[in-house]
Amino acid sequence: MNTAAISPKTRILGTGRYVPEKVVSNVDLEKVVDTSDAWITERTGIRRRHMAADGEVTSDMAAGAGRAALQAAGLNVADLDLIIVGTVTPDSPTPSCASLVQQKLGAEEIPAFDISAACAGFIYGVTIADQFIRSGNANCVLVIGVELLSRILNWGDRTTCVLFGDGAGAVVLGQSKNGAGILATQLFTDGSLAGALHIPAGGSAEPYQSEGIGRQRHKVHMSGSEVFKTAVKNLTSASTAAVKASGLKSTDIDWVVAHQANMRILDQVATRLGFPLSKFVLNIEEYGNTSSASIPIALDEAVRDGRIKSGQNVLMCALGAGISWGSAVVRM
Ligand code: UT7
Repeated sequence: MNTAAISPKTRILGTGRYVPEKVVSNVDLEKVVDTSDAWITERTGIRRRHMAADGEVTSDMAAGAGRAALQAAGLNVADLDLIIVGTVTPDSPTPSCASLVQQKLGAEEIPAFDISAACAGFIYGVTIADQFIRSGNANCVLVIGVELLSRILNWGDRTTCVLFGDGAGAVVLGQSKNGAGILATQLFTDGSLAGALHIPAGGSAEPYQSEGIGRQRHKVHMSGSEVFKTAVKNLTSASTAAVKASGLKSTDIDWVVAHQANMRILDQVATRLGFPLSKFVLNIEEYGNTSSASIPIALDEAVRDGRIKSGQNVLMCALGAGISWGSAVVRM
């Protein structure tokens, strides 16, 4: 699915993030599984990740990022018409994380729902919010990407547990009046690859059972090399498609804010796109893979430290479980 608006209707009014204070280094993980700082750094680019404190839940982090984005936009919670949360780690299977965020922010009876598109959840959320604003059904939408992955990892599986971190990022989207905003978005899913990255147990196919819990069936399982190859190919093609749909040339793109899963994936995507890596906003070293939170956290960092400036063109792209992926081109 692709959407393109040479005259954008939806603009980013503010960005925010919340990252937990606790930092876990690669060296700390050497005490947990058979791994090494050298292997993790060389194969992924990750040096540290942040982890939620005991008692801290996904909706706490999401609400923190949401408050920061509202403050940056100069708006109040009463200005919101809709809350969309991209997450695969809600506080509990039901209700949605978004409904708990609505309550924690003190919003009144506005619709709030979750998107399950894993690492692509933020791009999916932004695309849906854009549709609500374009159609005139919403003026102001809070989109949050949040994950508390440390609680759904198998801490005995070195092929997954070293990769991920916890955190939240958010944007407030509103009507565009000045030519800035979302120029194009692209969404894709290939369900034939669903088994490459999944949590097998805990749903209707395999309800929780003590035997399955013993075998860690309710934790993340990933075929890393399969996802790696798919990510390089699909992030490149989705990025190319979004730039084309936006009506811009690739040389018009000032920044790339891509999902931070593996530095080698980002390197290969940059080479295939013909973009220098210096155009990429990179923070994988600090946070690891925070799934749906990775793009809004990186975006917020680069906006707040002045790298991304008003009027610049930003390409975003992400891929994760599903396999679902997507891209967007936004003029800030
Ligand atoms: O966000 C959602 C999307 N996710 C991704 O995009 C992740 C994509 N995949 C990846 O980033 C990479 O495939 C990984 C980082 C997961 C794995 O890197 P790799 O270079 O593909 O390694 P590999 O799976 O081919 O494993 C190479 C070796 C294996 O040992 P043997 O069989 O060659 O003896 C693994 O057992 O590295 C071993 N290994 C480790 N060694 C030390 C795997 N994980 C670790 C580890 N520490 N943590």
